[in-house]
Amino acid sequence: MDTTERRISTTVLVIGTGGSGLRAAIELAEQGVDVLVLGKRPRMDAHTSLAAGGINAALGTMDAEDSWQQHAADTIKESYFLANPHTAQIVAQGAAQGIADLERYGMAFAREDDGRISQRFFGAHTYRRTAFAGDYTGLEIQRALVDRAARLEIPVLDSVYVTRILTRDGAVFGAYGFDVGDGTRYLIHADAVILAAGGHNRIWRRTSSRRDENTGDSFRLAVEAGARLRDPELVQFHPSGILEPENAAGTLVSEAARGEGGILRNARGERFMERYDPERMELSTRDRVALAAYTEIKEGRGTDKGGVWLDVSHLPRETIMTRLPRVYQTMLELQMLDITTDPIEIAPTAHYSMGGVWVRPEDHGTDVAGLYAIGEASSGLHGANRLGGNSLIELLVFGRIVGRAAAAYAAGLETQYRSHDAEARARAEVTDLLAADGPENVRALQRAVRTTMTEHAGVVRDEEGLTAGLGELAEIEARSERVGVHPDIAGFGDLAHAFDLKASLLAARATLEAARERRETRGCHNRSDYPDLDPSLQVNLVWSPDGGVEREEIPAVPDEIATLIRDVDQVGKLVE
Ligand code: FUM
Repeated sequence: MDTTERRISTTVLVIGTGGSGLRAAIELAEQGVDVLVLGKRPRMDAHTSLAAGGINAALGTMDAEDSWQQHAADTIKESYFLANPHTAQIVAQGAAQGIADLERYGMAFAREDDGRISQRFFGAHTYRRTAFAGDYTGLEIQRALVDRAARLEIPVLDSVYVTRILTRDGAVFGAYGFDVGDGTRYLIHADAVILAAGGHNRIWRRTSSRRDENTGDSFRLAVEAGARLRDPELVQFHPSGILEPENAAGTLVSEAARGEGGILRNARGERFMERYDPERMELSTRDRVALAAYTEIKEGRGTDKGGVWLDVSHLPRETIMTRLPRVYQTMLELQMLDITTDPIEIAPTAHYSMGGVWVRPEDHGTDVAGLYAIGEASSGLHGANRLGGNSLIELLVFGRIVGRAAAAYAAGLETQYRSHDAEARARAEVTDLLAADGPENVRALQRAVRTTMTEHAGVVRDEEGLTAGLGELAEIEARSERVGVHPDIAGFGDLAHAFDLKASLLAARATLEAARERRETRGCHNRSDYPDLDPSLQVNLVWSPDGGVEREEIPAVPDEIATLIRDVDQVGKLVE
């Protein structure tokens, strides 16, 4: 198929139109720096718009005792000490500014009668710290950011799929991609590149991500540019994903449902969290609640369809309508279920990549000069268990910081070398795939990856399963060499899926290899063959295709935060 190639130059290129990419772009534009944003789906439909329950900042509007130090302490504690303390401090300290930025962009937060921003409890926070807009907080944030970006006239191309970050001698000089609609190629030269293209949780079968998002694109783009990944095995399974219909399995029922007083029961009607965390019950940490639900189901106390019940029907109707309107609507639309009268059947769902591209805490720069990663693409804040609401604040805080860092990097460049070879390789990669006419179907292979990850790297893992998973993955990798790619009248979606598959394969390999190395149980990572936490593994695992898995020490927690951290225990972990 004949296609043209457009050439564009900009100062900073942002890959990804979700909250983190847009927030970074806004910072750049406000500083007067040229920026171009690329996305593979319409900007209002970016994954951030699905984020539901809220965004954390120790504003103290409901609980005056809260402080940024306590927010950092909760984050580090609940990460099972795998969060980088410096990253946690930066986010907690910058959170109030992040909320103020959103207000400046016109974000409509829920408020108390006297005008204070309302804050609700989310699991494992010491205080009410989660600001929100109903249960559609991410959608409101995305709206505010899209609106602000439009006012700043930031150019956004939201049908361009990036296939490669272009580098020479360990420094970026742009990216290559194509338009998913008409196949037009894009060669973009940029001084710096910010990678904001999400995580890899779509490589599991039941996931809160939709088709064709979070397929590991950031991981592949970064690694092929010379960056490394940190903690790819640490994937958060959210306790409450719906079971049906099959094509929407995993769709999230927001933690706000538990935050507002929702109750979990097994098929026998038992409030099972009593067994796992009698103190915090449904407001326990996500890893514990997810493992508890998994255990109930696995041990035969689940529903016939393999779930447990989440019930909000005892809450006042008004609470549901004002605080959980999206859950209400979604359940009506997908299952004709009225949550004001009936419980919701749920099971754990792959939700968030807590690991990601290796970045420096202070500016989210990677191993590649001029390449930054941000949001779910990055790593460092969440460790082995993310506090709900921390991802949205992370993107606000680091959007500002990374925008500034990329601007400074670009301003400091005296010379930038490009590489015709690198451009030619990127071009050839697209051309070769377009010519591929093998017998293997890309969609079928994507499904095979998801099946392997679900069977061998789900909520509970073991050596045998992870090794078997790597064996299956090697077969899928071999089959992926024989795919057929067939763009048609509807566009170049098939080519995008082929690149998604490459990304998913890389993300799956990194995840399985790191999961095998982490021979302990910590947070989301439950090893039935190593049920205890191993203090010697209080390290990050850094992965690269050539170097395999290496250990990285985590800096000490500053005293003012450490004194606020209560003991981490293993209560509720692998109680079977
Ligand atoms: O359940 C939720 O509303 C998800 C929030 C989050 O992942 O931060």
